[in-house]
Amino acid sequence: MNATAFKDLDDEAALQLDANGNLRHLLTLKGLQKSLLTDILDDAEAYLTQMGSLPARSQSLRGRTIANLFFEPSTRTRASFDLAGKRLGADVLNLDVNTSSRKKGESILDTIYTLEAMQVDVMVVRDASIGVPAYIVSNVLDHVSILNAGEAEVSHPTQGLLDVLTIRQHKKKFEDLIVTIVGDIRHSRVATSAAHALATLGVGELRTVSPAALAPDPNALPGVVVMDDLDKGVEGADVVMALRIQRERIDDLDGIPGVDEYFANYGISRQRLKKAARDVIVMHPGPMNRGIEIESEVADGPMSVITRQVTNGVAIRMAVLDRVTQSMVAR
Ligand code: CP
Repeated sequence: MNATAFKDLDDEAALQLDANGNLRHLLTLKGLQKSLLTDILDDAEAYLTQMGSLPARSQSLRGRTIANLFFEPSTRTRASFDLAGKRLGADVLNLDVNTSSRKKGESILDTIYTLEAMQVDVMVVRDASIGVPAYIVSNVLDHVSILNAGEAEVSHPTQGLLDVLTIRQHKKKFEDLIVTIVGDIRHSRVATSAAHALATLGVGELRTVSPAALAPDPNALPGVVVMDDLDKGVEGADVVMALRIQRERIDDLDGIPGVDEYFANYGISRQRLKKAARDVIVMHPGPMNRGIEIESEVADGPMSVITRQVTNGVAIRMAVLDRVTQSMVAR
């Protein structure tokens, strides 16, 4: 399967809503209405409890079956969809792709049809090829929902939602904020989904900082201020998000600095953050490469909201699962 095999599908934003404007699938944050986006954030807030107390539970998905289909590695997204489904009372199937019949040449659609025949209601899909979630949407039965859990470099919608929820919890008014994303923007679905959500929420200024080889394509993120100097990029920033270099999506490493040079120029350190806003928060979607894109003192320090992002990830996935299964009832 090549990386562009599924590109030419219909408008994904339209595909993910039903005739009444309810969320049937979650493929992208691009074009998702502000009211729907903020409703999901509000729903997720209701699923957050104090750390140390029991996590929130409900039986809203009782009788439903969710299948996690991760054709790329994951810790956070897969574990949080698993927990989210179980905490809502669903049966959750985690397909081990490495021991599945895909290794014997079964096509992705035959895997999907097989799970559909077992009465799976929601399929959570991560894949390295662009367009796979939308391709599956156009081939499943009407009652099945597809959730995009990471699609090549183009979309990671639940990550974008948990990122803006984390920002909202700490900063409240998006229009006053300067948000700086540092690192491998070009290959990052996290940056793309965050940029779409932040644009919808009316962020004051979104900057990216990276070496030229990792800068976004000129038309990929409209309205974004593209920079290559980290000192200038963090100046006055209210939110700084560090990203790892996504080597699995880079064919040619020419132009990408070595580890020491990278950290010296693009690593997030306490020293570097002195030019940011006094109450800056530091984010990272994980997995982190400490000492390359972020130093441990920052990752584990008072400015860091990285573990909060992880906690919010479960709540966001609960909110999204609730929403797509509610629209199943209405269908
Ligand atoms: N942020 C994120 O997608 O992490 P995982 O790859 O561990 O799911």
